[in-house]
Amino acid sequence: MYQALYRKWRPRTFSDVSGQETVTAALKNELKTGRLSHAYLFTGCRGTGKTTCAKILAKAVNCAHPVDGDPCNECAICRGIDDGTILDVTEIDAASNNGVDSIRDLRDEVAFTPVSGTYRVYIIDEVHMLSAGAFNALLKTLEEPPAHVIFILATTEVHKLPATILSRCQRFDFGRIRPEEIAARITYVATEEGLTVTPDAAMLLARLADGALRDGLSLLDQCASVAQHIDMDTVTAVTGMAGQDTLAQLTDCVAAQDAPAALALVDTLYRSAKDMERLCAEWVTYLRNLMVLNSVTDVGELVVATPDELGAMRAQAQKLGLATILHMMEVLQGTLDRLKGGVSRRVEMEMAVLRLCDPRLDDTKAALIHRIETLENAIKNGVVAPSTIPPVACGDIPPLHKGGTPTASATNPIPTAAESEAIPTPMEAPLAETPNGMPVIPAPTAVGIEPIEKTFDRWAEVLDHLRQSCPPLFGMLDGTTALLKEGSLVICIENPLLAQLLKEGGNKEQLQNAIRQVTGQTYPMALRRKQQIKKPENDPLAQLLTAGRGMGIEVNEKE
Ligand SMILES: Nc1ncnc2c1ncn2[C@@H]1O[C@H](COP(=O)(O)OP(=O)(O)O)[C@@H](O)[C@H]1O
Ligand SMILES: [Mg+2]
Ligand SMILES: [Zn+2]
Repeated sequence: MYQALYRKWRPRTFSDVSGQETVTAALKNELKTGRLSHAYLFTGCRGTGKTTCAKILAKAVNCAHPVDGDPCNECAICRGIDDGTILDVTEIDAASNNGVDSIRDLRDEVAFTPVSGTYRVYIIDEVHMLSAGAFNALLKTLEEPPAHVIFILATTEVHKLPATILSRCQRFDFGRIRPEEIAARITYVATEEGLTVTPDAAMLLARLADGALRDGLSLLDQCASVAQHIDMDTVTAVTGMAGQDTLAQLTDCVAAQDAPAALALVDTLYRSAKDMERLCAEWVTYLRNLMVLNSVTDVGELVVATPDELGAMRAQAQKLGLATILHMMEVLQGTLDRLKGGVSRRVEMEMAVLRLCDPRLDDTKAALIHRIETLENAIKNGVVAPSTIPPVACGDIPPLHKGGTPTASATNPIPTAAESEAIPTPMEAPLAETPNGMPVIPAPTAVGIEPIEKTFDRWAEVLDHLRQSCPPLFGMLDGTTALLKEGSLVICIENPLLAQLLKEGGNKEQLQNAIRQVTGQTYPMALRRKQQIKKPENDPLAQLLTAGRGMGIEVNEKE
């Protein structure tokens, strides 16, 4: 029958136990000097060697020829304990035997001296699972243990033990095992099994094991079932991971705000059956590493990666900046929470990358800080062209032309030719071309040629007339300006919706009527979208930028 690697390779001596030097040194010392306790408590995460050490200790106290505190594993007693023919060592799994009964039996049994060895050893695994009654029964025995009895209690949840038990035990804490040590043990076991594992693959497995050697060996087992030679690809395929490269790539897409590429990548991963929740969790872990790399110079063991990976990640971390990294983590943590709630995984992931690729879709504080940081960087680097500011989210405002200078302000409602040129808008399409046929006026001509246009100074009177004759229309036009250009009346309007309304429902006729009433003349009319930098109004960053120019901050245009 196939024996799982982690069981097959359970260390049989303290010297063989990885990463628990403090514990094993102390135990060996007690064994060598003969100063044994009657009750030991082994605590710590699962898969770190508690049961293993309990078994070794049980053998070591009875071994006929202990070697430097380790059991010899060869004498009759060691072998008898191993194959279960010597009954002096009893293992109770409280998780399955949580009965008061086994502890009561134990109370009766302890009175008998050991049959073959020196000590009767009781290993009570997962001791926190004992019922209150069983704890009390155990306590009675622990209070006055016979000289030939040793208890070894093991638990992952020491806080669940009553203080009365804790106070009677010598406690040993089993820490998480460092990835390097897990990797070393994985490599050792693999070699013994006739497998090859590349160093980076071993390291990846170790990282995935998250401090538990048992998990590291189980993962190795899974890899071994598909390949004799185990490399990064084997590990990522077996574990369904996206892998470091993919995560770096995804992060790059976000940094470049390249939503199509990010979505394509998510699509590829989705198609290759990667679990979106896992991907999200992996990504958060990856970003956590970037965060650490960005904040700490000597990361030591805070970030586990090969030197190559570390270099690449450090560069990426610097490029992104801390605010961006934190923002990404925040978004993805939220996504992770929702993924756990069973939403559509792919959609949720796509939403996340979109939100990340366009911070303006996100009004959280983190997002805003990220945007400010981007701006600060741009100013620092002397690169603040309008084109570096992403276009505003409302699609109806066309982007500035490259190199266009947003100089117009609300106090200067009449656009210069240059401004109008810089912002061609659909509204400059002559109204004559619209179905209701307002006459055509040509759009202002090219830069430098003075257009023949002047303010239409009776506009206030027209508005006043409208205030009486047609209040709704007045409401629409209040605050607008008008100018005369080559005999046409050009109304400058900011709001494109308003411009639309003006063409509908008899409004144009009402307006023409009012103009005729005031001036005694009929003018051809046209609409012009007033020069408006929508961005400064909507976008605090762009506004800041414009203010920066006004304040004489030197900003180099990119072009
Ligand atoms: N510190 C360690 N050194 C070497 N192998 C270990 C270590 N910890 C765990 N293992 C491996 O994991 C398996 C399970 O370990 P175990 O001692 O039962 O963990 P725990 O009791 O702490 O949950 C062992 O059989 C062994 O293969
Ligand atoms: Mg255990
Ligand atoms: Zn022995």
